[in-house]
Amino acid sequence: MKERIVSGMRSTGKLHLGHYLGVIDNWVKLQEKYESYFFVADWHALTTKYDKTENLKQDVNDVVIDWLASGIDPEKSTIYVQSLVPEIAELHIYLSMITPQNWVERDPTLKDMAKALRLKEGSSQEEDNEATLKSQINYGLLGYPVLMSADIMALNAQCVPVGIDQVAHIEITRDIARRFNNIYKTDFFNEPKPILNECSLICGLDGNKMGKSFNNDIKISDSEEVTTKKIMTAITDTNRIRKDDLGNPENCLVAFKYWKIFGNPEEIALTDKECRAAERGCAQCKRELARVINERLAPIRERRRYYENHPELVREIINTGSARARGKIQEVVREVREIIGMYK
Ligand code: TRP
Ligand code: SF4
Repeated sequence: MKERIVSGMRSTGKLHLGHYLGVIDNWVKLQEKYESYFFVADWHALTTKYDKTENLKQDVNDVVIDWLASGIDPEKSTIYVQSLVPEIAELHIYLSMITPQNWVERDPTLKDMAKALRLKEGSSQEEDNEATLKSQINYGLLGYPVLMSADIMALNAQCVPVGIDQVAHIEITRDIARRFNNIYKTDFFNEPKPILNECSLICGLDGNKMGKSFNNDIKISDSEEVTTKKIMTAITDTNRIRKDDLGNPENCLVAFKYWKIFGNPEEIALTDKECRAAERGCAQCKRELARVINERLAPIRERRRYYENHPELVREIINTGSARARGKIQEVVREVREIIGMYK
């Protein structure tokens, strides 16, 4: 029997290369080996975007289209939308009953999310005290890791492929699963393990973490022209002012790093050599880099256009996957009701 994995992504709209290289590419490999469930976490998106819901539906579609384009295969993996499986919310209630307050308050991402919220609301940094923080953290946001535990435990998954930033959440899930088993004297729940991505971390065009809100990302859905334009803004070796200044790829914090991700060994060696000898200028270097990146993304973008032009197909994949996931999750939650001793 194959082991089961589950992972999710918040519905934040069109995805960028950080998502693709850091997460999705890994899922595409894992779906060959595991019984795989991938879902759009639209409830998790609501924990911070509860007051900006006008793009919610489109955001879900965009995420799924990017997944399909990147090679998540609906024949191999079950693709679903969290909010189409209400039994996850039911499980979340049971788990919330047995989760101590200090477990969720320890969540290292909580303060960051609250800060992001505050920035959004435009209040000043001076208000950075405990009381203000607390007034900005809604009950739902506090429950973020408990809802995440419900996502994972709803499928009683053995493993969860995630980025390093989510490992603390999987730890809470393991704690909650163990506590459930102890309290109800059962061994029903697995203690799920994280599978860390072995993919490359790609920084943004400005050298910081790639992110939609930092305006430094390249989207899977960007056209070749837009991609090239963006690459031309990537920072390079800042000591190299004129074209005949000798360059140093080690100081080229974005363009050369991208070369190392997208170039083949010969291209990387050639870039390194010509940069050091000032045999190529940065503009030329980045134009070539853009070509290499566009070539790599071409088949993905073609598939993306196909799905974009066939919304009814995307709809059907979401509906079929959500029904399949729901069937499985209903079995788990029925068992949980039985174990707890709920009325029936
Ligand atoms: N919190 C995850 C993120 O922001 C998304 C997520 C929600 C998730 N539920 C999950 C990931 C369950 C793995 C398993 O990336
Ligand atoms: Fe970076 Fe290329 Fe310019 Fe060298 S030539 S500094 S590798 S962009």
